[in-house]
Amino acid sequence: MKKNFQIAVVPGDGTGPEVVAEGVKVLSTVAPMAGVTFSFTHFPLGGDHYRATGELLNPETLERLRQADAIFLGAIGHPEVPPGILEKGILLALRFSLDQYINLRPVKLYEGVNTPLKDKGPADIDFVVVRENTEGLYTGAGGVLKKGTPDEVAVQESINTRKGVERCVRFAFEYCRKRNRKKKLTLCGKTNVLTYAFDLWERVFREVATEYPDITADYAHVDAICMWMVKNPEWFDVIVTDNMFGDIITDLGAMIQGGMGIAAGGNLNPEGVSMFEPIGGSAPKYTGQGVINPLAAIGAAQLLCETLGLAQAGRWIENAVMKVLRENIKDVGAGRMGYSTQEVGDLVCQAVRQQ
Ligand code: IPM
Ligand code: MN
Repeated sequence: MKKNFQIAVVPGDGTGPEVVAEGVKVLSTVAPMAGVTFSFTHFPLGGDHYRATGELLNPETLERLRQADAIFLGAIGHPEVPPGILEKGILLALRFSLDQYINLRPVKLYEGVNTPLKDKGPADIDFVVVRENTEGLYTGAGGVLKKGTPDEVAVQESINTRKGVERCVRFAFEYCRKRNRKKKLTLCGKTNVLTYAFDLWERVFREVATEYPDITADYAHVDAICMWMVKNPEWFDVIVTDNMFGDIITDLGAMIQGGMGIAAGGNLNPEGVSMFEPIGGSAPKYTGQGVINPLAAIGAAQLLCETLGLAQAGRWIENAVMKVLRENIKDVGAGRMGYSTQEVGDLVCQAVRQQ
């Protein structure tokens, strides 16, 4: 079993560095308990670095990140940089170049956390979204003609490959089996309108499902999923979907689990290096105030441990987070936690050590 792990840390923009620091603190606390070491190397990617140097993600940095055992990312996004540049040039570039074809986003409501859903509690909100992370509408395929004229044409194509869809669907079935809960996998699509893309998805889904007789293979249109995530979230166990729908429904998911202060995700390449991040943005207006909840970044650290095969370390972190939520934090929202970002990190570290 591997004992020494190289972790590439990309704190990024805005409040990213503040929450990442707490995640690193928790990882450093749990490492000796798990009998491993984490060596952290920081990379200054992000909006400030881009504004200072004109550089997004250079090939040398990419290679160094590829060599890491895992990447821990804060947030990418800067108010002074036009939309799309940093997102495409750094975040999506990393996901694509490192072939992180799964975006794993657990939606879990912990005891003591408020959900806007009336009459729903932790027993009802506990599912995982498996979002395809390298294809669909995100590839940049398409183009524009006659830009800025009355005859402008804008085409943005969704690319869905048999291989890309199949590896994602297979991952989701495997994950659902290992998770061993309701053993139900729901394909989230739009087969009634997107009759090329989701026809492919549905055929692959049905085909792979025959290899998993222990899993209930369920289908729902994306619009209906949005309705049911609010009305009957307890119906879901694992949801698999394409990049764009996955992006949208996981923001809804983040809200029903308590908000961006708590939602974490992993960009996984099961055969390569994976990257873990709180799914909220860089929240620039809160930079330097120490009011952002680091629990999402700490949740990302937990996913990082689980993916590296450190299941016990993952459980220690999750137990600690649950304890802090039960006993300390009354509201997970920015500035309403009753503690600073650092204090929340300290509370989690203390609860980790007590196990
Ligand atoms: C996310 C984000 C990104 C996405 C943006 C920042 C490009 O919204 O991780 O969900 O759309 O994937
Ligand atoms: Mn998103």
